[in-house]
Amino acid sequence: MNVLKKFVIFLTLVNYIVCDDSVSEFTKYVEDELEKISKFQLPTDNRKLFSNLTCRSKVKNYGTFDFIIIGAGSAGAVLANRLSEISQWKILLLEAGGELTDFSDVPAFNNYLQQTDMNWGYLTSSQTTCCQGMKNNQCPYPRGKVLGGTSTLNGAIYARGSPDDYNEWANLGNPGWSFKEVLPYFKKSEHVALKSYDKDYHGTNGPLYVNQTSPPSVISEAFLAANLEKGLKEIDYNGKHQTGVSRLQFNIKNNKHLNSARAFLDTIKRKNLDVALRATVEEILIQNRRAKGVKFVQNGVRYRANAAKEVIVSAGAINSPQLLILSGIGPAEHLRKLGIPVKADLPVGENLQDHPLFVNMYFRTNISSPNHTMQQNIERYFDGLTPLTNGAGLEQLAFLDFANDPSSPKADVELITFAPPFSVPANPQGAYNLKDRFAEPYSKYNTLTDISVIISLMKPKSRGRVTLKSNSMLDFPQIDINYFSDEAGEDIEMMYRGVRYVLGLEETEAFRRIGARYVAEQPGCESLKADEREFWYCAIRNMAATEYHPCCTTKMGPSPADSVVDSVAVVHGFDNLRVVDAGVIPVITSGHLNAAVYMIAEKISDVIKQKYNK
Ligand SMILES: Cc1cc2nc3c(=O)[nH]c(=O)nc-3n(C[C@H](O)[C@H](O)[C@H](O)COP(=O)(O)OP(=O)(O)OC[C@H]3O[C@@H](n4cnc5c(N)ncnc54)[C@H](O)[C@@H]3O)c2cc1C
Ligand SMILES: *[C@@H]1O[C@H](CO)[C@@H](O)[C@H](O)[C@H]1NC(C)=O
Ligand SMILES: *[C@@H]1O[C@H](CO)[C@@H](O)[C@H](O)[C@H]1NC(C)=O
Ligand SMILES: *[C@@H]1O[C@H](CO)[C@@H](O)[C@H](O)[C@H]1NC(C)=O
Ligand SMILES: *[C@@H]1O[C@H](CO)[C@@H](O)[C@H](O)[C@H]1NC(C)=O
Repeated sequence: MNVLKKFVIFLTLVNYIVCDDSVSEFTKYVEDELEKISKFQLPTDNRKLFSNLTCRSKVKNYGTFDFIIIGAGSAGAVLANRLSEISQWKILLLEAGGELTDFSDVPAFNNYLQQTDMNWGYLTSSQTTCCQGMKNNQCPYPRGKVLGGTSTLNGAIYARGSPDDYNEWANLGNPGWSFKEVLPYFKKSEHVALKSYDKDYHGTNGPLYVNQTSPPSVISEAFLAANLEKGLKEIDYNGKHQTGVSRLQFNIKNNKHLNSARAFLDTIKRKNLDVALRATVEEILIQNRRAKGVKFVQNGVRYRANAAKEVIVSAGAINSPQLLILSGIGPAEHLRKLGIPVKADLPVGENLQDHPLFVNMYFRTNISSPNHTMQQNIERYFDGLTPLTNGAGLEQLAFLDFANDPSSPKADVELITFAPPFSVPANPQGAYNLKDRFAEPYSKYNTLTDISVIISLMKPKSRGRVTLKSNSMLDFPQIDINYFSDEAGEDIEMMYRGVRYVLGLEETEAFRRIGARYVAEQPGCESLKADEREFWYCAIRNMAATEYHPCCTTKMGPSPADSVVDSVAVVHGFDNLRVVDAGVIPVITSGHLNAAVYMIAEKISDVIKQKYNK
């Protein structure tokens, strides 16, 4: 053996040993985190955020900034990045949550973060038309309270929706929002790392990486083939056509979850940007229809910060309405009931839209994925291999266009599959707040052999609303999701069509080859079995939860009668107060919302720079 060869072997050995140590160290760390998570109790109000507040009367001056951005979530991180490019501007970014961790960087662990203080911890109000399988008929409604906001809790799926979604926004009287006009802003954020994609639709210079994972799971081929048999095409769903089937495109960079803070804040170091963590805003200070600044609490001290130019509210589709209403901007009657002086009468909190998600569809196959230990999965993660690199453990999607209207091509229903071992949630009862008998079927599903297909409704007609319980930031807002409440019953019927499509996969050659057969149980609906439609309506009302896409509660539009902000995201009647987050979306897209929120924040950043000639 020559010296060089010996040296190479030596190096390999050293490398192996070092690597092995860090794998077991990280495994230990992950197991400790999971242990904490299993014991975590979600809060029922915001009192903990104010726990160290001692002297209520003294308000300290935090200083004056050109722009104050409330919330370091998806939108807030983009705004902070783009506005701080102007070195003369002083920017303050206020975030109620704290730092990211190595645990939150693992794409497949995102769902666990719901059981940590990175989640605000909301439940919906008691529902009558959905969430019937959940305790007290309340679905969990997670929202991020951490750097990156909800993009830290999310499944990292990058899906813009159909071009038609944005043309619809423009047609509703919002100039500048047609697909042709917004495409440059999608591309501006993006750094595409996919092997193949539609060239005209992706960007290559942004901080937001988009990639797929490898290798595919043993069941992925079957789902793809089954949908091809049904007539779908394999597509780049962020390209020319939305409807079809595809492996998921994720916001991951070097196999880590790329939330908005990792993409847009960690990549810059600027003296003119002050990022204040664990800083909870209580009120936007308004005088004569001008936003003067904000009041917030950090480490038990109450501060006032002044805005020389603008206050931008990016607290998300639930918390932005909460903060606006607390500051006197909302439906006048609601404000009067809460005892809050009316500063502007606007439909804040109305028009809540979301994608309902049916979560109880399982097929058993006769093939099994390997049962890796946690340590093996972490070794694979370090090597850039699935399954921990898949956001939320998800793998593929199909967008189905049942309406099939060629003048308005967009998906009505979306299907997503999990890759083993994530087909069955680790703690379904906790994740969905299930009543005991609705949790029972989950104990029978097998996470290595079963295919789970979740089904979501993309263009719901039903509308919910966000209101407040009191005039205090100490209380959670009330979230009435109101799924499947449209009078004509179109929503539940469309969801039912999605269910029938998925059941039909059983008849494909591809599903037969792996012996895939429907094994889910739908408690509480057994007596309806004779009528397939009634049976499935029942199952859907029990087991449809949220796809976590609330939006449209501070909707953009031309009229203050039915919208909150104008087409440049300025609150009607104000000139220096904007809302920039998922709330300004006028009609929900047929994609996932994070991509749309990044685009909105990129576009408004440019609008602001133009306003001040920068
Ligand atoms: C479990 C889950 C999975 C999801 N999966 C996907 C997915 O795979 N793909 C996708 O596209 N979308 C997904 N989404 C949705 C997507 O992440 C959100 O639509 C998006 O992040 C919303 O961005 P935003 O800027 O509107 O709000 P957020 O990102 O929620 O930002 C709001 C920020 O404001 C802060 N804040 C709120 N109130 C205050 C206050 N009073 N003071 C100070 N700070 C405050 C919050 O702590 C938060 O950081 C998912 C969501 C969840 C919950
Ligand atoms: C993108 O994914 C491929 C395949 O998993 C991988 O080889 C490549 O390194 C990834 N690129 C980035 C920038 O993460
Ligand atoms: C309250 O103080 C304790 C001890 O200093 C600290 O650990 C905690 O983060 C503080 N909480 C808040 C909300 O400021
Ligand atoms: C995987 O293996 C573990 C033991 O290492 C066992 O407890 C678990 O039940 C197995 N999972 C499945 C789905 O067979
Ligand atoms: C699975 O079942 C199908 C249909 O019964 C059969 O053709 C196939 O050989 C089986 N595969 C395995 C791995 O058992």
